[in-house]
Amino acid sequence: MTEPATEAPKARPLPPRHGVIARVLHWLTVLALLAQYLVGAAMVGAEGVLEPWIEEAYDGDEDLLLPVHVVIGCSILALTVVRFAWRQVVTLPAWPPTVTAGGKRFIVATERALYALLVITPSSGLALVLLSGEDWEVGDRAEWIAPLDLVDDDLLVGIHVASQILLLVTIALHVGFVLKHQFVDRDRFIRRMV
Ligand code: HEM
Ligand code: HEM
Repeated sequence: MTEPATEAPKARPLPPRHGVIARVLHWLTVLALLAQYLVGAAMVGAEGVLEPWIEEAYDGDEDLLLPVHVVIGCSILALTVVRFAWRQVVTLPAWPPTVTAGGKRFIVATERALYALLVITPSSGLALVLLSGEDWEVGDRAEWIAPLDLVDDDLLVGIHVASQILLLVTIALHVGFVLKHQFVDRDRFIRRMV
């Protein structure tokens, strides 16, 4: 008698993911943003929980942080422009069936908002150091004076701070959506970006 053929357990197919360039650009942006918020907080002498932590990590002249902040911020802007352009030319991976129509609308809206805020935040910072007529000390002897005095500096600081906060809120919504899919719907959603 022949044994009944036993079916090999089917391996769950892995969900499709973004291409390697999109993935590298995504995680570079995440790292740069993390550094940027910490440098920004250190620059304005963050109070409370962050202060002792920042002091331990950075035992230098706070005025020297501005050039670092400008370089990281401009890199975030450049990364965002390249990412957005790249996204227009590649085919995006299909959504897993666990993403509902409402879920699709939510993730598309949050990603659009992320792109917009990743342009507005650094641009408002750039406008501040170029168009506000303000000056900043850079280290002991140097000073940076905004070459033009076209826009009120309070307005620009207001936009810079409001957009940083909105960016953090949108990142929280984005990560919340990803984690809900990963751990509640168990559709291995994070793999789309790793
Ligand atoms: C996504 C990019 C950026 C993020 C998340 C960010 C975040 C921050 C944070 C958290 C602060 C401290 C809070 C405050 O505004 O007082 C700050 C301050 C500042 N940022 Fe940015 N920044 C970004 C890009 C830039 C860029 C590109 C520039 C300039 C080219 C810039 C210029 C400034 C300046 C001048 C301040 C000090 C404002 C003041 O005098 O109060 N930032 N930023
Ligand atoms: C600084 C924080 C973050 C920003 C600014 C950000 C931004 C973005 C953007 C703009 C996209 C759209 C895809 C693209 O055009 O490249 C995206 C997709 C994605 N992100 Fe993030 N992200 C952040 C943090 C995270 C974290 C912490 C995770 C993981 C827990 C994550 C997981 C994903 C996944 C899985 C996708 C794919 C979703 C899709 O296919 O549209 N992201 N992210």
